[in-house]
Order: sequence, then C-alpha cells, then structure tokens
Amino acid sequence: MVAEMPKHHWPTLPETRAIPGLLADVPRRLQEMPDRAGSVAESAAPFVPAAPHDLDTLRAALPGCRGCELCTDGTRPVLGEGPVDARIVLLGEQPGDQEERAGRPFVGPAGQLLDEVLRAAGLERSALYVTNAVKHFAHRVEVTPHGKRRLHARPRHRIVSQCQPWLDAELALVRPAVLVCLGSTAAQATFGPSFRLLEQRGVARSSRYAPVTLATHHPAALLRSEGAELRAELRAAMVHDLRRAAAAAGQVPLAPSHLVLEPELIAERLLPTGPVTHSETGSVAHGSDRNRRATVE
Ligand code: URA
Repeated sequence: MVAEMPKHHWPTLPETRAIPGLLADVPRRLQEMPDRAGSVAESAAPFVPAAPHDLDTLRAALPGCRGCELCTDGTRPVLGEGPVDARIVLLGEQPGDQEERAGRPFVGPAGQLLDEVLRAAGLERSALYVTNAVKHFAHRVEVTPHGKRRLHARPRHRIVSQCQPWLDAELALVRPAVLVCLGSTAAQATFGPSFRLLEQRGVARSSRYAPVTLATHHPAALLRSEGAELRAELRAAMVHDLRRAAAAAGQVPLAPSHLVLEPELIAERLLPTGPVTHSETGSVAHGSDRNRRATVE
C-alpha cells in the first residue's frame, strides 16, 4: 500500500473513514460466517409452500426461507400486497430500506413517486398488486460520522433467480392480465438476463407471468436522474406505458391459464397502437379502435 499511496495521504482517503466501522463489525461478521456457509440453499424452491391456496400462506412461510445469502443478513423479507384478483401487477426490484422496515413494498420515496405517476396514468394503486423480484433488501452498509446507513445494492442475477420461486408462487395466485416490470431487474427476472430496458421499454409481449407484459422505467430512475428535462422525459414515458397497461387490462379476458396463450396473439392484437389519450375524468382511451375488438379465444 505504501508503494501505491504515500502514507501522508492515508488520513484523507475516503476509504479510511470506513475502517473503524468495519473493524467494529468484525466480531459479528465472524460469528455469522459458519452459519452462512452451512445454512443457505441454492434456491428458495424448497421453502415455498407447494400449491398454496392464498397469499397469506406464502406470507407466513417467507420469513423461513433460506434460499439465498440475503436470508442470513437479518433483514425482513417483504412479499407483495394488493388484491389477489388484481388485473394489473407491478413488479419492482427489491424492497428498500423503508420497505424492509415497514414490511410493505414501495412505501419509501420511490413508492411515493410511483403513486404519483400511477395517478397521472389514471390507475388506483389500491386496485393493483405490487411486488418485487427479490424479497430481501440487498444492501451494503456505509459508516458515516453519524452512524451506519444501509445503501441499496443491486441484486445479482443469481439472487434474482434463487428468489424467483416466491414470485412464481405469488403470480400463480394472482394471474394478472397485465404485468408491468419496473426497471431492468424486474424485466430480466421476467424475460431473462438478455433483456435491455433502453431498447425494449414499452414493448408488450406475453411472458411466463401474464398475457401482456411490458417493462417501463423504475421510479428510482426518475429520482436519480439529473436535470428536470430528463426527469420529465422518463416520467412521461412511464405514464405512457402505464396508460397502455391500463388500456390492455380492460381488454384482456382472464384466461384459465395465461400460459396457454400464443405469445404473438397478445401484444400485437390487444394493445393499443395509436396515441394514448387521457380524459379529464381519468379514464384511458387510445387512438386505434382495431385492438379493442380483439378477443382471446
Ligand atoms: N424499489 C423497489 O424496486 N421496490 C420497492 O418495494 C421499493 C423500492
């Protein structure tokens, strides 16, 4: 280290400030290590109740999950919430700091912004089922002069797929007509890791979870974006995508199992292609009437 950086610079390095906190945390981390190595499974699958009848059964079983390393970090897992017969499901990435504390998805700053964007799109949050691809809060701890802070860390693909049996079980109960993936983690959990949000945002396709599935921006992307212009652009795109989702939800009959639907049938024939307009009353309409007549056999 002396070779890389003369000693007189050490006290002013930002990393140096983290050292006392890291050292203080060593005994706890050492104690946890053998547990971690021994008790974590490869997937959540063995912990998900087989053929659950309701969401409460899943909710009760979730804290017992040891399907990935996040299950051992002491954070509380958060299942989705909303009506089990919701036609639209919103899928986020993972609970944040406030969601973990409250035990509910999207209640922190990103959630408040989401509520506002939903209203602009004419959607009532209470009518939607809202959940996350990963049920634990993946985070890193930053030590500041005022104490420790838990900072969001994007969950790795492996964690997302280890946690996926919970999402599979939730959405098998809800069986949404329309799934909206918020951000690329949710979209990759649904369409696979090659999904690219910037290229495929707003494109509706069928997925393993819903006959109409599309991805849009995550509200946290709006919060993080720099400059009012970019933020307005992202917000407009999100509102547009959510209006299309709302319109599609009014048109897609609930199938006995959406998995039997032909992928190309859905996105091409049922989604509005014309400009989406929003009436004063908050109802959603779109420019093309062609799709309104389409039905799923
Ligand atoms: N971000 C998410 O993706 N989900 C939440 O529940 C909160 C923030």
